[in-house]
Amino acid sequence: MDTSQNVYSKLADNLLAWYAQNRRALPWRDHPDPYAVWISEIMLQQTRVESVRPYFERWMAHFPNLATLAAASKEEVLRLWEGLGYYSRALHLHRAAQIICERYDGQLPHSQSELLQLPGIGPYTAAAIAALAFGQDAIALDGNLKRIFARLFDVDTPLGNAQTEKCLRALTQAHLPHGKAGDYNQALMDLGALVCTPKNPQCERCPLQQGCLALARNTVHLRPVRPLKKRIPHYDVVAAVVMHKQHLLLARRAEDRLLGGLWEFPGGKVRPKEPFEHALQREIREELGAEIEVGAPLGTYRHAFTHFRITLRAYLCRLQANSPLPQALEHTALAWVTPTDCAAYPMGKVDRQIATHLLEEGFPLVSD
Ligand code: ADE
Repeated sequence: MDTSQNVYSKLADNLLAWYAQNRRALPWRDHPDPYAVWISEIMLQQTRVESVRPYFERWMAHFPNLATLAAASKEEVLRLWEGLGYYSRALHLHRAAQIICERYDGQLPHSQSELLQLPGIGPYTAAAIAALAFGQDAIALDGNLKRIFARLFDVDTPLGNAQTEKCLRALTQAHLPHGKAGDYNQALMDLGALVCTPKNPQCERCPLQQGCLALARNTVHLRPVRPLKKRIPHYDVVAAVVMHKQHLLLARRAEDRLLGGLWEFPGGKVRPKEPFEHALQREIREELGAEIEVGAPLGTYRHAFTHFRITLRAYLCRLQANSPLPQALEHTALAWVTPTDCAAYPMGKVDRQIATHLLEEGFPLVSD
């Protein structure tokens, strides 16, 4: 008789046999170098595999090893990261590479406790590096692994709840085949991406279907149980394209802020009931100590961050005749540039859209 115990003891064998036949060809899997594993794991946080591919290949061509990354400038690092989002990841990678060169002779440390001391490496990434790069028996418990095990064991409590996380960690750990954690973790990632997908999972193709409790109980579509979604706030934001002597003004954001280290068209949040033009004049006065005339609207841009959404309105602006020149009061640097120069300045998505718009539509040059 097939007791569930017997079926589950085969879980890892069936999974690894499936992986040997079906594993995805991903560029970081061709690099056994721990450095490549680290870069890919950081890029893959909050970002889809298909988006990461070209960034990973470009990054490895520019910074083929830890020493070249440590020696690069912040600007170079941010420019290569541009478009991937969550820019503090890039600054942390850069800083961590310098620390590894100083303290560990340029080699990523092997222990999870040492990895956890490095900027940008949390428990998930430390476990992923330990398992994938160093073959240690660690579990990188990502959304794929949680979904698969929540279905296999028909876990009916919500994700995010401490008890559920503990239970899923224990289940994934219990089935880990000793010495094969790299393949086990990656096989589960691939199964989650190709077969046990969030919507329309292909259970008929699943190597683990025999032991899947949710499949037997017809609850696959209900697993995992999602935590209740919080409503995310929306903000109106204004930004100024300040034109002066045939150049426009860029400002670099402080590193400890969202989009830290990136260049922007300065501006900020509109207060409740505040007219957009007033908000822009106030922000430029507060942040740059300058007085502007707000001219034509240039465009409206929408963007979603993790915890809020914005609608940003950009305006063409000029300095008032009696205004002092802008100063970096809250930014770390200012630059007067042409639209063509903007390409060299790392920016977030919305600011890059504004810069591209200026370049493509023609910059309305004024002779003042
Ligand atoms: N997601 C996070 N790490 C991954 C990896 N190494 N392969 C595929 N998807 C991943």
